[in-house]
Amino acid sequence: MAISRAVGCIATVLLLYSLNTLGSTVVDEDLPCNPRDVGIEGRSVVCVCTATYCDTITRVDPEPGTYVMYTSSNAGQRFEKSSGVILEEVNEQPEDEVNDNDDGPQDPPEASQIWNNVVLRIQTISRQQYIEGFGGSVTDAAAINWRKLSDATQQKFIDSYFGPKGLEYNLIRVPIGGCDFSEHPYTYAETPWHDATLANFSLSPEDYFYKLPMIRRSQRVATSEIKITASTWSPPIWMKTNEAITGFGQLRPQYYQAYADYHLRFIEEYDKIDVKIWAITTTNEPINGIVPFVQFNSLGWAPSQLGRWVANNLGPTIRNSRFNETLILGIDDQRYLLPVYLAGMEREDPKSIEYLDGIAVHWYGNFFPPETLALIQNRYPDKIILATEACEGSMPWHLNQLELGSWERARRYATSIIDDLNNFVVGWIDWNLCLDPGGGPNWADNFVDAPILVYGDKDEFIKQPMFYAMGHFSKFIPRGARRVRVSRRSFATVENVAFLKENGNIVVVLQNRLRRVMKVKLQISIRHYFEIEMEERSIKTIEINPRMPSTPSPST
Ligand SMILES: *[C@@H]1O[C@H](CO)[C@@H](O)[C@H](O)[C@H]1NC(C)=O
Ligand SMILES: *[C@@H]1O[C@H](CO)[C@@H](O)[C@H](O)[C@H]1NC(C)=O
Repeated sequence: MAISRAVGCIATVLLLYSLNTLGSTVVDEDLPCNPRDVGIEGRSVVCVCTATYCDTITRVDPEPGTYVMYTSSNAGQRFEKSSGVILEEVNEQPEDEVNDNDDGPQDPPEASQIWNNVVLRIQTISRQQYIEGFGGSVTDAAAINWRKLSDATQQKFIDSYFGPKGLEYNLIRVPIGGCDFSEHPYTYAETPWHDATLANFSLSPEDYFYKLPMIRRSQRVATSEIKITASTWSPPIWMKTNEAITGFGQLRPQYYQAYADYHLRFIEEYDKIDVKIWAITTTNEPINGIVPFVQFNSLGWAPSQLGRWVANNLGPTIRNSRFNETLILGIDDQRYLLPVYLAGMEREDPKSIEYLDGIAVHWYGNFFPPETLALIQNRYPDKIILATEACEGSMPWHLNQLELGSWERARRYATSIIDDLNNFVVGWIDWNLCLDPGGGPNWADNFVDAPILVYGDKDEFIKQPMFYAMGHFSKFIPRGARRVRVSRRSFATVENVAFLKENGNIVVVLQNRLRRVMKVKLQISIRHYFEIEMEERSIKTIEINPRMPSTPSPST
């Protein structure tokens, strides 16, 4: 039929068109990773940054009918750019063109094709949640490490995470008072004891010298508004049954209102210095003060207690205040605890659920299926789900808290983010933006890994593979993008998630976990597609401009 010949011509024209235009689009050359071999068998590289050099990443707008692809891999690629053309399916070949390679009748597909060939169809009409963004946490530990660097290196650090040539993070989580990633435990109203009016509430030196300067520097370079989520780990100990920062302890009922006011006072104090709090959570990991394995700052909440406090104290306090638009995110604990807490809160007082704008979830319970989140979204369709904490090296079975250059840790970040996004999470906040080479400081010796490690004595920092895993999402999926469904048309698959940007471009993130190359055909509509190869153990982000360019008439 005539259609297919015309289609062939269009594909050729598109190819020429894109070769002409793509070359001129890449104006900004990125500074490549300055790699360091960590000297451990099986590890990937880390990228070294100093006052005078740090790798950069610029996003390129794909021309109509083309895509731009960014690849990072265990083999050492870091946001390596390539580009290609969207092709048009030739699905009705005329009889005389089918068997022109004289192989006789078609063989059944080879076994390797079944295992290695992936076909994914992006369903841009099936639109899901809107994305808020991605980011990391400004803990005392992160900010203390950052302040050890010279001013020029501090700027390279901030640019790396927040700047237009960095990961373009647009979310931050900040502890209200201290957490374990502090040099000592503290709160904002330690003395006098039993003063429910909080007359002596005051921010800490850590806020003024460390956290606030880091937040403000980030805001200065950010490419969109940085939305800040704040969480309390422990209230002043006189509010607690055990009068201690950690261990089995709950809020004394006579201080329910004081603890709600404590949150409002924090929002007010940050507002006075022009740092707006976008959301608060209802206390970090409430299970920690009930099941006391945890030896750091905590406050225990049974689900019914939390329901009572949110319904009678926190909810009304925030909603009747000048900061009535601050979001309240419930639970802020592991995936498997969410159904228990939500049901318990609702049973205690349904108003508690009404006061919640969303639900905050941590990643340490990720052995529990991610579909839990989809079920919760289904049960509470008007709440957002935000992932508020994740890190590697925290589990008892982790022999090493730090694994320099570990690709496997980057792989797990990407898997978890893809799972969460495919189950209605609207944003993903990493834990400490950076730590020292020992995984601290942490007053409770709870050392863990981080995407950036800071070597203060050498005035340098290194970007681990986890940094790039975060960037494959944060850099390319802007706030306001909408997740769209992807359906699989093959036996084999790669991890995948896709989005539609406000400008109509499609962003796809793919991860090949395997130690072999995978061939992926991406269908972006019934007739349009392209094929790529995925290197072993790699992550790719592909931005596609699906508007086909107007082409000269093939009949000329
Ligand atoms: C008020 O708090 C400061 C520390 O922020 C403390 O030094 C002072 O003793 C407190 N005042 C009273 C009356 O407890
Ligand atoms: C917050 O208060 C303002 C007036 O002070 C009001 O206009 C607005 O609708 C309130 N927003 C919410 C979410 O209650």
